[in-house]
Amino acid sequence: MRSKSSNDASVGRMTAHKRLITAHAEGSSAGVRLERLPTNTTTNNHPVHRWYNFIAGFSPEFVQACVSLQRPSASEHLHLLDPFAGCGTALVTARMMNLAATGYDPHPFFSIISEAKANSAQYWPDLKDICASIERGFDAPCPIADVLPEAAGAFLAKLFEPSALQALLGARIALEQDGLAPNALAVLVLSRVLDHSCRAATDGIYKAPTSKKRALLPAEALRRVLETLIGDQIEAVSGHIPAKVHRKSSEDMPEVATHSVDLVVTSPPYLNNFDFAEMTRMYLYFWGMAGTWSEITENVRGKLIVNTTTALKGHKDIQENYRSSLSPQLLPEVDAAVSALAEKRKTKAGKKEYDLLVYPYLSQMQNTLRECLRTMKTGAGFHMMVSDAALYGIHLPAPRWIAKMMISCGYGDVECHIVRQRGHRWVLDKREGSETGLGEYYVFGRAR
Ligand SMILES: C[S@@+](CC[C@H](N)C(=O)[O-])C[C@H]1O[C@@H](n2cnc3c(N)ncnc32)[C@H](O)[C@@H]1O
Repeated sequence: MRSKSSNDASVGRMTAHKRLITAHAEGSSAGVRLERLPTNTTTNNHPVHRWYNFIAGFSPEFVQACVSLQRPSASEHLHLLDPFAGCGTALVTARMMNLAATGYDPHPFFSIISEAKANSAQYWPDLKDICASIERGFDAPCPIADVLPEAAGAFLAKLFEPSALQALLGARIALEQDGLAPNALAVLVLSRVLDHSCRAATDGIYKAPTSKKRALLPAEALRRVLETLIGDQIEAVSGHIPAKVHRKSSEDMPEVATHSVDLVVTSPPYLNNFDFAEMTRMYLYFWGMAGTWSEITENVRGKLIVNTTTALKGHKDIQENYRSSLSPQLLPEVDAAVSALAEKRKTKAGKKEYDLLVYPYLSQMQNTLRECLRTMKTGAGFHMMVSDAALYGIHLPAPRWIAKMMISCGYGDVECHIVRQRGHRWVLDKREGSETGLGEYYVFGRAR
């Protein structure tokens, strides 16, 4: 395995990392700095992608560069797999480049957003009816207690003016009455209206009921959302190969045939306690995907890869099962990190069980890595962006661990390179784990 910093020149033949840099530099998005490839900072420049800009998403430019590495000619039809599809950056890019694409994500909200974006052509003819239905609903406000369980209603009441929330719920009911509620584009449109109508500021991740921003009236918000969508009409209906979005874990992908995938482009949850369920609480409650905190754990966290202490229910007692699934070559350094976290926990007032995240996270990641390899054709490339982390100041080099697991799973040409430094202030001020700060890494492997 090669592991180098981004400015290292390749030794001997060109590394995958060097090829990625070259493909990016020669591609249509050459103006975008390499450091932005793992981030969502270019998303708003891209039609359709910008309909829902996901804080944890990577850039369309990263996907474009990976595709151009794998596809010698533009006419060749390829099959792209994203086992952690999120809000669909890889799937949308694939559709626009005329690739077949398959994505997995058990998160009920993200999977519907990626379905709406990746298959927008299919839903586009419904847009007029969706708007009419939402507008009708705004005129028929719905009392909060009529639709939402108490906990969900109390949380949402902190985020919206009462009249706005009643109008928004009226729109949800109208969509249901008009048979448009399961329509992915309807969910995307009304969810974006929610964002604009919400009076709580977001720090980019969580809706914080205590911090305020200017909220648009729901009707005004709908106009703004439609303006963006209609501006992207050409791209929305382009591409004719429908993407397949599976709302389930990629640890098992029986829907994808063995040796059928030409490239994997993905970014998994990081081992950093970032809670994908909590960050979507507003949508989960509004759409009835969960009604209480414990339903969020049941219906969402419980289905995702364990990367947060709030997801540990059911995983604490089977740590040894997870541990024993890992390769003996990897265990010494992982064991050392787990012991250090357990020791540190004893000294911390919060006593977060970070030590219990590591084995389940790696073991579940390994399941997905194995499944990907099964589906990949010989020569297919696996391209991943993933970050390391520092919990309680203990450095967790997840990208390097993942690269090592890829080798033990049977991937060839495995490489791991830092692409972007991140989190310096956080690490240096409050943590003592990493001298250099954290980074986002490009991990590559090839099916042999
Ligand atoms: C870093 S995000 C991916 C973002 C994506 N690249 C984009 O641009 O939208 C990781 C995603 O993995 C999903 N995830 C977590 N556990 C999963 C699992 N077991 N199988 C598939 N996806 C999972 C999360 O819900 C989250 O959406």
